[in-house]
Amino acid sequence: MNLEYLSGFGNEFASEALPGALPVGQNSPQKAPYGLYTELFSGTAFTMARSEARRTWLYRIQPSANHPAFSKLERQLAGGPLGAVTPNRLRWNPLDIPGEPTDFIDGLVGMVANAASQKPSGISIHTYRANRSMERVFFNADGELLIVPEQGRLRIATELGVLEVEPLEIVVLPRGLKFRVELLDAQARGYVAENHGAPLRLPDLGPIGSNGLANPRDFLSPVAHYEDLKQPTTLVQKFLGELWACELDHSPLNVVAWHGNNVPYKYDLRRFNTLGTVSFDHPDPSIFTVLTSPTSVHGLANLDFVIFPPRWMVAENTFRPPWFHRNLMNEYMGLIQGAYDAKAEGFLPGGASLHSCMSAHGPDGETCTKAINAELAPHKIDNTMAFMFETSQVLRPTQFALECPQLQPAYDACWASLPATFNPNRR
Ligand SMILES: [Fe+2]
Repeated sequence: MNLEYLSGFGNEFASEALPGALPVGQNSPQKAPYGLYTELFSGTAFTMARSEARRTWLYRIQPSANHPAFSKLERQLAGGPLGAVTPNRLRWNPLDIPGEPTDFIDGLVGMVANAASQKPSGISIHTYRANRSMERVFFNADGELLIVPEQGRLRIATELGVLEVEPLEIVVLPRGLKFRVELLDAQARGYVAENHGAPLRLPDLGPIGSNGLANPRDFLSPVAHYEDLKQPTTLVQKFLGELWACELDHSPLNVVAWHGNNVPYKYDLRRFNTLGTVSFDHPDPSIFTVLTSPTSVHGLANLDFVIFPPRWMVAENTFRPPWFHRNLMNEYMGLIQGAYDAKAEGFLPGGASLHSCMSAHGPDGETCTKAINAELAPHKIDNTMAFMFETSQVLRPTQFALECPQLQPAYDACWASLPATFNPNRR
């Protein structure tokens, strides 16, 4: 199936899978075309500023309200509750993909979080591993989902239409949107940032101007596509961190037409217009921000999604890897492909690292020694795509993340081999 997409970010899109299914000139006519039901899907409070408001009008075969009571599932999300607080730098090897049949929901493992799900801010970060398509349909009442595939292509059937994504692309699903993740390859693995705060948006560009970084037209939303299926379907929701389910007698992916701006979208990270220095030093990594979820404090993010894509390094007389630093922000990093330029080894595709508020980090000993002694010709960092979920509140690892065998016991040692280069007699 060749999928169609609508291009743009934050647009008021309109799409109909049957001609004339979308009412013209009003949202909620007495009788919607084709005998459809009208439903409003709000992603923000009604009274938000117009520039912040996200909502979509849905025209569907059955309204979402037609469901029996939800019951709490016996099998809850893997990862367990949050574990002990630690200021230590942590790094994990990739989690294995399970041998037993595992769909996207069963394969989600909580790794770190900085908020209870009932708070309207903060993030939770999960790894997903799957080896079979979902037959169930899922929605997350606790936040928006930013999915970063590392292995395996996904077909994501949502209420608003179908998206296909592959590693080096990302997808964002609004809070509450119903969807089913199907695998297009034998297995899949990746990262999920669950954003409990303000919906993700493009960062302001300031002096960069009106172009650059992620360009709005490269964000793709699906066109309307519906399932008119009268078959038993399990609908699962995550509500305050717990999984609940009910049985429907129809597919809830039954929206025939819609219009609005509360929509899922995908973005190809290879289209990111990477900017950097053409003289010396390098800018702060915020220059690599793809999407941001702001807080009420101007400039302080609830979540920044930042990537480290292939790029030319041309800075003169400059220590070119990321500098040693200590930050206010908390950094959870992952690797989609290749190697990350600040680490010689130990940080693998599918793996992760956590550097919390004010924890000191930077290039490891081997990378640092090489960078100090390098001939500074222009060179391209290629075959790489690392990323960071950065947040202003401290992230606490789950019990699983603290106890799993993938947690590297000697991460600190990668900085122990930094050479002693100080000589008071040689400037
Ligand atoms: Fe950092």
